[in-house]
Amino acid sequence: MQLLHLDSSIQGETSVSRLLSAAVVERYRQRVDGIVVEYRDLAAAPLPHITLPGFATDAAEAVLAEFLAADVVVLGAPMYNLGIPSQLKSWFDHILVAGKTFRYGAGGVEGLAGGKKAVIVLSRGGVYSEGPRAGVEHAETHLRAMLGFIGIDRPQVIVAEGVAMGDEPRRAAIDAALAAIEHVAAAKEPAEA
Ligand SMILES: Cc1cc2nc3c(=O)[nH]c(=O)nc-3n(C[C@H](O)[C@H](O)[C@H](O)COP(=O)(O)O)c2cc1C
Repeated sequence: MQLLHLDSSIQGETSVSRLLSAAVVERYRQRVDGIVVEYRDLAAAPLPHITLPGFATDAAEAVLAEFLAADVVVLGAPMYNLGIPSQLKSWFDHILVAGKTFRYGAGGVEGLAGGKKAVIVLSRGGVYSEGPRAGVEHAETHLRAMLGFIGIDRPQVIVAEGVAMGDEPRRAAIDAALAAIEHVAAAKEPAEA
């Protein structure tokens, strides 16, 4: 099994999404003999914004090839300014490629990457799962939409939220997320959302 591990937080050692994405990958390592893990740190080594000529470069093709080779993708994603970091969006701009990961058919868009499993690990400073801010959550919704566009309709989503609301809520959110990670099936198959 090939696993692609992505991080995109700018917050280094204090990052919640990095802590949690590492826990997911560790769970896979413990359960899957011979697993091959590729790691890409999108904050330490940002991909360029996509351009039309940029699609044809060896560097862009290598990013796509790395994704295509993966059975499982673990995405460490912080919420920044109500959405995902531009570094992570740039990665999606490299892998949402017509003819490779989706195509347009008679019935509209058809995802071509549906055989892959994705685990999203998302960290949010405030609370968006309920209450007045639920309607302005554009990180989880965007990630689900982009993965769905290429056929990954049932990502597993682990959320730690309220992590900027004080030490106690932060600790509780991290503990709950770590407990949820204990239930991530370390398998190739897509899981229930
Ligand atoms: C640049 C920046 C923008 C942020 N914007 C938001 C935001 O819009 N809403 C929110 O709830 N938290 C926001 N936060 C808090 C982060 O979501 C929180 O720190 C979370 O843990 C980020 O994941 P990380 O720890 O892996 O970096 C922001 C943090 C930073 C550094």
